[in-house]
Amino acid sequence: MTSANSPEELRGRMVDRIIGAGLLRSARIEAAMRTVPRHEFAPAASLADAYADRTVTVKPGPDGPVSTLSMPSVVAIMLRQLDPLPGDNVLEIGAGAGYNAALLAELVGPAGAVTTIDIDSDVTAHAREALDATGYHHVRVINADGAFGAPDRAPYDKIIVTVGPWDLPAAWFDQLAVVGRLVVPLYWRGQSRSIAFTRHEDHLRAVDSQPCAFIPMVGDVAGGERSAGLADGVSLHWDEDQRIDTAALRSAVGGVGTTLWSGVTVAPHEGVDGIWLRLTATEAGTCRISATEAAIAHGPVKPIFPGWAPAVVDGDSLAYLTSARRTANGQRRYALGATGHGPRGHELADRIVATIKRWDGNRAAQPVITAWPVGTEPRVSGQVIAKRQTTLVLQDG
Ligand SMILES: C[S@@+](CC[C@H](N)C(=O)[O-])C[C@H]1O[C@@H](n2cnc3c(N)ncnc32)[C@H](O)[C@@H]1O
Repeated sequence: MTSANSPEELRGRMVDRIIGAGLLRSARIEAAMRTVPRHEFAPAASLADAYADRTVTVKPGPDGPVSTLSMPSVVAIMLRQLDPLPGDNVLEIGAGAGYNAALLAELVGPAGAVTTIDIDSDVTAHAREALDATGYHHVRVINADGAFGAPDRAPYDKIIVTVGPWDLPAAWFDQLAVVGRLVVPLYWRGQSRSIAFTRHEDHLRAVDSQPCAFIPMVGDVAGGERSAGLADGVSLHWDEDQRIDTAALRSAVGGVGTTLWSGVTVAPHEGVDGIWLRLTATEAGTCRISATEAAIAHGPVKPIFPGWAPAVVDGDSLAYLTSARRTANGQRRYALGATGHGPRGHELADRIVATIKRWDGNRAAQPVITAWPVGTEPRVSGQVIAKRQTTLVLQDG
């Protein structure tokens, strides 16, 4: 018999909620999540916090957590993308608390192997201790920069990255077996998505991508993002391969904007991440705009979300995704549109509106994403995103 607030009960309810949200359809992953005692990997958290659908801080830092235990629903999504099979040799980048490594050990079984790497020695010490205490002695924990992988046990059947890199380092491609799977929450053009790639002879090809947000990866692959203030409380964030004229954009944002509406509406909490994804496949100037609540309340900009909203920049002009609350048949909805600033702001807003309409025509459609190690000429055409070690090509469907 277990009591209503025992770890087993709370764990069961956590898994039931993830299933109820439609995010867990694999009986094997479900069994692993019902087995691994998540609270043992977060000893400082209350049982309720350990089993809530939230991140749990493992190591705090001055600008936010250095390490966290990922949200259980995100863990489930990424394991589904990875599909670890009995006997697989798996590499994890970002050991954190060691929780996901324990799930991987359950899924690959005694015939498989799990190596997990973390750059922070306090974190690896914690992960080692928690894995030993829960009986996962056979998981190998390494303290190093995960950008270089762990060549001694390569090739891996599966590689999972549980920290947000800006680039795909050559080592991950080199250490992944052909037809192997890489799951990685990659940042590009201001957004972050967990992409499931399959390795082909000379490139990676995405089979799925889902929105997610992770702690940015530090070390060798960090540092490809740029940002600057455009007005009081308003900032723009872009990638180093993009040309951004911040002086011209400051002057654009100082002027009056033009808002165009698409006629498309969404329910509260309905995801619009697919619009951003589609923009990255068609608009070279896609980036992120952020604004404080005060800047939104008093002008000059009103992006759809304060911290994260897609913007498109072209020379001296910019436009961004916006929304307005509407009521239709007594139901609250949000109308989607775009606001443009600068000499070509109207034209850019019109292009975002066209993307909203295309997205609405088939919300599940995703661009084809391929990744080519630098030095290999991409054999496909599409929107090229030049990282330092990888070239991404997005082809809009
Ligand atoms: C979200 S946590 C990982 C969660 C973990 N998988 C779990 O199950 O608890 C991200 C981790 O990535 C680590 N990290 C950041 N940059 C890294 C790098 N270059 N190499 C390896 N680990 C890194 C951080 O120290 C942090 O512990």
